Amino acid sequence: MNKISTKLALYFTIAVLVMEGLLMLYLYDNIIDTRIEEEFQSILSRGNSHRDVLEDRYSETTLHHIALMESKTETEVVITDQNHNVITGSRELTDGMRELIQVPPESLTREGRVIESNWKDMNYLATVTSFESERNEGYVYMFKSAAPLRNLISQLNRHFLLAGILSLIILTGIHFLLSKLLTRPLLKMKQATEKLSKGNFEVKLPELGQDELGDLSDSIQRLATDLETIQQERTEFLANISHELRTPLTYIQGYANVALREDIPESERKEYLNIIQEESKTILTLIENLFELAKIDENNFSIQTETIDSGSFYHKVINKVAPVFKRKGIDLILTVKEDFPFLADPIRLEQIVMNLLDNALKHSPPHSTTEVTVERNDSGNMSLLIHDQGMGIPPEELPQVFNRMYRVEKSRSREFGGSGLGLSIVKELVEAHGGQISIQSERNKGTSINIIL
Ligand SMILES: Nc1ncnc2c1ncn2[C@@H]1O[C@H](COP(=O)(O)OP(=O)(O)OP(=O)(O)O)[C@@H](O)[C@H]1O
Ligand SMILES: [Mg+2]
Repeated sequence: MNKISTKLALYFTIAVLVMEGLLMLYLYDNIIDTRIEEEFQSILSRGNSHRDVLEDRYSETTLHHIALMESKTETEVVITDQNHNVITGSRELTDGMRELIQVPPESLTREGRVIESNWKDMNYLATVTSFESERNEGYVYMFKSAAPLRNLISQLNRHFLLAGILSLIILTGIHFLLSKLLTRPLLKMKQATEKLSKGNFEVKLPELGQDELGDLSDSIQRLATDLETIQQERTEFLANISHELRTPLTYIQGYANVALREDIPESERKEYLNIIQEESKTILTLIENLFELAKIDENNFSIQTETIDSGSFYHKVINKVAPVFKRKGIDLILTVKEDFPFLADPIRLEQIVMNLLDNALKHSPPHSTTEVTVERNDSGNMSLLIHDQGMGIPPEELPQVFNRMYRVEKSRSREFGGSGLGLSIVKELVEAHGGQISIQSERNKGTSINIIL
C-alpha cells in the first residue's frame, strides 16, 4: 500500500539530502578553497620575507638564522643557488623535495609562485621565490606538509557522513511517528466513512486534538450524527405521512360504503358525499404541500425575486383573505408604516403570508384582532409582523413548530384540520430568500411571527 507516511518520509529524506549536498558543495567551494588559499599565501609571504632579509644582508649568519628559525615551525625552508644546488635548509631533503628543487621555476615574478598545489596526493605544498643580492643569487623554497590539511578535510567528510547516517536514523523515527500520527487516524476515518456509506451510523472516532486531522475526524463524527438524524427524521416523516393519509382515507372508505347503500334517504347520502369531498380536499392539500416541500428540498429550487412595492402588495394579499376573517368575526388590520420597495419573490411571499394568516385564523376566537404590520427596519430590510390573539403555543412546544408535520397538541388537529407542514414550508421559503423568521407566543394571549427579508 502507498502509505502517506512513507511518501512524507521520502520527501523529507530528499529534502535533507539536497540540503546536505548543497552544504557540502558550499563548504568545498568556499571554506576549503579559502583555507587552502590561505595556506599558500602564508608560506609564500614567509618565503618572500626570507628573500627580503637575504637581499638586504646576505651572509652565512643570515642563512643559518633562517634555517634555524624554520626548523622550529611547521614550515620548512630550502635555499639554493641559481643552479639549484642547496646552500642551506631547515631539514634533510626528501626525494619529493629534491625533485621540486631540480625543476627550474618558470615565469617567476618578484612575488614568487606556488610550485606544488596538489594537497591531495603530495606530501608537501611548496612555493618558490628568487633572491638577488650582491653576494649571491638563487631561490628560496618553502615547504609545508599537506597532511594537516588532508586531515582537516577528511575530518569534515567524516562529519558529513555521520550527519547523513544520523539523519537517516532520525528519518526512520519520523517515518514511524508519522505513520502513528497520520496513517492510522486516516485509516480509521476511511473505515468510518465506509461504514457510513453502508448505512451504519455508529461511528466512534478517537479524539485527535485541534489540528486539521482532528477537524476532519470531528467533521466525520458530526456527519455520522447528522446522517443518523436525517435517517430518523425520514422514517418518522414517512410514518407521519402514511398516518395522515390513512385517517381521511378511512373516512372516505367508510362513508363511501354507507353512501352506496340503497336503503338510506337521499339527504343522508348527500351528507356522506360531502364528507367524502371534504376529506379528499384534505388529502389533496396534504399532497400539494408535500410536493412543495419536495421541490424546496431539491437543490435547484430557486426564487425569482423582483422589486415589490410594500403598500400595494400587502393590500392585495390582505384583501384576498379579508372575507374569511370577517365571516369568523375576526378583525384583520393591516398597517403599512411606509411605502417602500423591496426585493422578494411575490408568489412565494404571498404563500408565506397566506400560510401564517391561515394559522392565525384557525387558532383565533371570534371577536379577536389579527394585526399585520409592515415596516422598513433600521438596516433597510422589510419586516413583517403578524400578531393574533389566539390560543397561543405552549413554550415547550415552541421550538418544534417549524418541524415538518409537527402539530401542537395532536388532539386539536382534527378540529383545525392542519397537517403541520405550513410553518415548515414558510421557514424554508424565508430561508430561501436569505431572510429570518422568529416566533413568540403566550398561551391564551396570542402568537407573533416576525419575518425579515
Ligand atoms: N397562530 C397560531 N396560534 C396557535 N397555534 C399555532 C399558530 N400557528 C401555528 N400553530 C401551531 O403550530 C402547529 C404547526 O403549524 P403549521 O402551520 O406548520 O401546521 P398546521 O397549521 O397544523 O397545518 P398546515 O399549515 O399544513 O395546514 C399547528 O398545528 C398549531 O398547533
Ligand atoms: Mg398552518
